Amino acid sequence: MGSGILSFQLVQNGFDNVIGIDTNVNAIIGANLECERLGYSDCVKIIHGDLFARCDVKADLIVFNPPWLIAKHELNEGIDKAIYYEKDLFTRFFGEASNHINKDGRIVIIFSNLADIVHRGEIHPIKNELDNYNRFKKELYLHKNVKASSKKTKRKNWRKNEKVELWVLIPNNSVN
Ligand SMILES: C[S@@+](CC[C@H](N)C(=O)[O-])C[C@H]1O[C@@H](n2cnc3c(N)ncnc32)[C@H](O)[C@@H]1O
Repeated sequence: MGSGILSFQLVQNGFDNVIGIDTNVNAIIGANLECERLGYSDCVKIIHGDLFARCDVKADLIVFNPPWLIAKHELNEGIDKAIYYEKDLFTRFFGEASNHINKDGRIVIIFSNLADIVHRGEIHPIKNELDNYNRFKKELYLHKNVKASSKKTKRKNWRKNEKVELWVLIPNNSVN
């Protein structure tokens, strides 16, 4: 969910029954306001909760834009969880997603190679799922370089090798 941008883009591309979920109450407040402003309240249901919380439907499409770095510290609620994820987040996500996706559905994940750049050798949670479990297979993988950092930045320039990744997975029992 976050700002809700991905949910709103789904509506703009013809989806009329979208559910957006986030643990961050500020994201929920902001997304609700924006949803009303755009006039999408009939098409988008917004839920405050963890992963598929209080959501008992099966979907044709699940879009997941998780945080990109594994937490090495205790996470606080709020913006911390937009950047860092708990160790079990992806295991829980894929386990729950396999119960919430239709047989011919798609899971789209927007991720990054940032973890591998910042902490060399970090396990890539999507590759780990595909290599070690029999729940999903890869249908498509695209990646793109991110824009260069501002020249004024005082932070280390990770951006040179950073790529944003788009993964499309299908359930292993899919007919495709
Ligand atoms: C990378 S941000 C998504 C940004 C969003 N696509 C946007 O453009 O605004 C990741 C989001 O996932 C949420 N999040 C992290 N862990 C979560 C969980 N276990 N369940 C639901 N949402 C979670 C964070 O609060 C954050 O809003």
